[in-house]
Amino acid sequence: MSANSPAAVVVLAAGGGTRMKSNRLPKVLHEVCGRSLVGHAVAAAEELTPGQLVVVIGHMREKVAEHLAAHHPGARAVVQAEQNGTGHAVRTALEALAADGIELDGTVIVTTGDAPLLTGGTLRALAGAHAEQGNGVTVLTAVVPEPFGYGRILRDEADGAVAAIVEEKDASDAQRAIDEINSGVFAFDAKLLVDALAEVTTDNAQGEEYLTDTLEILRRAGHRVGAVVAADYRDILGINDRVQLAHARRLLNDRLLERAMRAGVTVVDPATTWFDVQVSYEPDAVVLPNTQLQGATHLGEGCEVGPNSTLKDTRIGAGARVSNTTADSAEVGELATAGPYAYLRPGARLARKAKVGTYVEVKNSELGEGAKVPHLSYIGDATIGEGTNVGAASVTVNYDGVNKHRTVIGAHCRTGSDNMFIAPVTIGDGAYTAAGSVITNDVPAGALGVSRAQQRNIAGWVERKRPGTTSAQAAAAAAGTGAEAPAEA
Ligand code: UD1
Ligand code: CA
Repeated sequence: MSANSPAAVVVLAAGGGTRMKSNRLPKVLHEVCGRSLVGHAVAAAEELTPGQLVVVIGHMREKVAEHLAAHHPGARAVVQAEQNGTGHAVRTALEALAADGIELDGTVIVTTGDAPLLTGGTLRALAGAHAEQGNGVTVLTAVVPEPFGYGRILRDEADGAVAAIVEEKDASDAQRAIDEINSGVFAFDAKLLVDALAEVTTDNAQGEEYLTDTLEILRRAGHRVGAVVAADYRDILGINDRVQLAHARRLLNDRLLERAMRAGVTVVDPATTWFDVQVSYEPDAVVLPNTQLQGATHLGEGCEVGPNSTLKDTRIGAGARVSNTTADSAEVGELATAGPYAYLRPGARLARKAKVGTYVEVKNSELGEGAKVPHLSYIGDATIGEGTNVGAASVTVNYDGVNKHRTVIGAHCRTGSDNMFIAPVTIGDGAYTAAGSVITNDVPAGALGVSRAQQRNIAGWVERKRPGTTSAQAAAAAAGTGAEAPAEA
């Protein structure tokens, strides 16, 4: 907590979110760009390094508490058992802190758990204006094209100061025409907030304790009530249903892509490219259409990913190329290539210039520098040395039905096509294996491993056993004996 940090940020996230029509997830756990709605609120709050970071939870509270503990352990969850309104929610949070002996002094920011586009920068601007103007409370407002559903900002006709907030359901027709709305985000003086909340009643259309009533209460008591108007109303958009969820995802994605492009990343088709908030990159990376970068995926300098790729928590090295690939928790080294149609599962690690080609699946395996698995193969629980080439249609047979075993292939090996490596098995450096072999025993360095039956040919079998077929006709023609044989000149 620095000198300018607020004493606390309170994130309101207890509401039911009925309009999401979800039986499985509370509203605030729905995701936008790789982070839950409440996670976005907490991340913005964390940027202010507040003394206390409280999230008020209620609806499906076990799920929300578990999520916070797992992903945002710095946040303290406070339960609001019944959702009696936003004022009641804040009062519950402050009472929980007081019960733990925490007396707040300074600024308290109240924000909402359902506005994922709200940034730490916007919260900082609000806190800054609040301190600078010496306000008792400062509200973040916005002028919106469709104010329906929001609390409207009533300003004093004489001096233009904020006089009160009136909720949609309590507003007159004239008030409903106002297009400046309450974002639900405020900066308060901590002591004044406690006093004002004590005076809030439930005398309104919804029978709830409205946090918004504190503005009028503080103004009447002679305190300064300020407002900061958001530069872009889209920054404060709240999510109530899945249409708004999709809209917010699109807006946040646009913001993330713009940031990447300004940092030197080429995004060929922003309309079909999706970034999560944790994605990072270096200049001259190129993202081809229909590509989703999820989690903490990183793009190295000058790499090219896509088209049609989904990469999660995957590191792509400088100059690497990954196309039509699905990857999860994988590492693609500098100048390495994957795809088209590769599947890199957790623990797939490709060293510099390694290649995983077409219809190849790799799991929990390392490919050394320049090692290649070009075609139609499954490599699981394996180590493949540098400069080795694995023939087409090879399988590391890693699973005996109970346990997984490793295959180790040395450096500069040439394994034949259609090999089964029955793990545990080791192929020494520089060894070869013959095509079609089932390799059950270790192959020493420099040896050729062969394991397949001798071939025998039964002459004339087709003409005897499949007479009258096109095969038999072709065989006869080839032998120059059949009725259909081309006439001799
Ligand atoms: C609220 C504001 C409104 C503002 C709008 C912005 C009030 C009375 N109204 O209306 O002026 O324009 O937000 O989106 O404050 N919550 C709790 N406990 C409760 C009730 C709500 O934690 O008892 C939480 C909700 O989970 C949500 C936030 O508070 O994150 C806002 O509640 P919601 O019911 O969505 O309020 P609105 O009607 O949208
Ligand atoms: Ca709302």
